[in-house]
Amino acid sequence: MWFGAFVGLIFLVVAGSLSGGAGIAKGAEAPADFEYAKSYKNWTSIHSQPIYSKSHGRRLVRTYLNPLAEKGLKTVPAKFPPGSIIVKDSWVNRNGKAGKRAYLFIMKKEAAGSNPQAGDWFWAISTLDFRALKWKGKTFQGYGGDVQYCIKCHSLLDANDYYFGTPEKLEEEKKKKKKK
Ligand code: HEC
Repeated sequence: MWFGAFVGLIFLVVAGSLSGGAGIAKGAEAPADFEYAKSYKNWTSIHSQPIYSKSHGRRLVRTYLNPLAEKGLKTVPAKFPPGSIIVKDSWVNRNGKAGKRAYLFIMKKEAAGSNPQAGDWFWAISTLDFRALKWKGKTFQGYGGDVQYCIKCHSLLDANDYYFGTPEKLEEEKKKKKKK
């Protein structure tokens, strides 16, 4: 009798921990927000090494283009086909050297005319596990709202499909604007 209860208890504990474990594993497998960006390190980078970017939190950055986005750069001005994805890796700036890895900046081209106010680009800041950054009540993804400031600055180059490429481009555009 006593022994039976003991075995029963062991059984409950083991079964409970197994199902609990399975539950956690399932949660970890939930798809990330930006599954499509996960292979960015296999894409072509426009930089041979990280460069300093004042406009992205004064971090060091390195930009990667998926094969469709590469096509977009073949014309002048640039014109990116839907499905183009641009991912910008970033690191904390340690006296000009790449320190701790920071966020990923993402632009993904959607269907023509789907979000003209955002240049038909989807904008996001991603954590290193490919989820939208949530900070101070903001969620950094979408076609406006908390990512409106991305669009506002990049729209300086709306004639080049919102693509900068280099930090110098921003300075040029600011100067042009002042002259107008
Ligand atoms: C004040 C202007 C400014 C703001 C704000 C800004 N960017 Fe940029 N962005 C640039 C400039 C300049 C470059 C090119 C140099 C570089 O890589 O930093 C760039 C580059 C990029 C690139 C690589 C493609 C390209 O155009 O060169 C991505 C992706 C990107 N930004 C995403 C974002 C996202 C997402 C946000 C908002 C969370 C954002 N940016 C906010 C100016 C800005």
